[in-house]
Amino acid sequence: MIDPDHLRKEIHEKASSISTLEELFQLKSAVLGRKGKLTHYLRSLGQLPIEDRKRLGSQLNALKEELESLFIQKERELEEKKIKESLTKERVDVTLPGIKFHFGGRHPLIQVWEEIEDAFLSLGFDIYESPEVEWERYNFGALNIPPDHPARDMWDTFYITEKMLLRTHTSPGQIRCMEEQKPPIKAIMPGLCYRHEAVDATHMDVFLQIEGLVVDRDISFADLKGTLELFVSLIFGPDRKTMFVPSYFPFTEPSAELLIFWEGSKGNSSHGGEWLEVLGCGQVHPQVLRNVGIDPRVYSGFAFGLGVERITMLKYNIPEIRLFMENDLRFLEQFK
Ligand code: PHE
Repeated sequence: MIDPDHLRKEIHEKASSISTLEELFQLKSAVLGRKGKLTHYLRSLGQLPIEDRKRLGSQLNALKEELESLFIQKERELEEKKIKESLTKERVDVTLPGIKFHFGGRHPLIQVWEEIEDAFLSLGFDIYESPEVEWERYNFGALNIPPDHPARDMWDTFYITEKMLLRTHTSPGQIRCMEEQKPPIKAIMPGLCYRHEAVDATHMDVFLQIEGLVVDRDISFADLKGTLELFVSLIFGPDRKTMFVPSYFPFTEPSAELLIFWEGSKGNSSHGGEWLEVLGCGQVHPQVLRNVGIDPRVYSGFAFGLGVERITMLKYNIPEIRLFMENDLRFLEQFK
């Protein structure tokens, strides 16, 4: 018995309880598919008497259209539902606190080191590197400090063997540079140095030094002074008070130290208002030139070795050299 109303009711009921697209497709093919119920009804119309065929035919065709649009609508609903479900599953909770990345900064000593290098590069110097582990001959002997020389006490260090040590200054770089290159030479040599030293607010047993060396014809002490004064004004501005005082180094003659006036941090009167030695310097000793095969009657030169920690302390009013090594973020973050 073909009963369109019954079929309509049945399909509407089934459709209303469907919750997935798969179920919907199954229902659709069970009704409208090749072997579907409605298809079957439509096919069997031909066996009916003409009156029934007409009436049922138009009813079934109307039902077919109705069910087709029901399935389309149902399909849309289920698709929307599926999208909504996956959206809620994948939802980003924007109220969750984010992950904070900690951005590091460059160490103040590295920053000032590069500033100093830039200053000398702008004055036409090259950068020359020399090793931290050094032969005793380069650290002392070739610099005019024989084994029994009292100046060795100034630079007590860590020995690896009797002949090999951690360099106490960057001055052995002068020897290496002059052995490799012919004058004119105009170079700086930066790097770490080591000393067996009593550590205090302005002394460390490891520190950064930048050596400078100029060798050419007619290089005078005036060239040394002019270069260093220019350097100070590049780093500190034109008004910084400086003072050259006589000194002694076995590898320079005459020798001097450059002092820079330290205003000191306001809250720390014990480290303010004094002169701080930032470098040793002088004209290259004729014997040092002879040691590397440069004729001192033709060439002369000057050299200096400056302390990067000291320059940094002066630049930022840091009263305590040990702060550079303590890795305290409260200190380091001020230089980001
Ligand atoms: N090497 C010396 C020091 O470390 C500094 C210096 C370098 C002095 C070059 C004169 C010339 O104390």
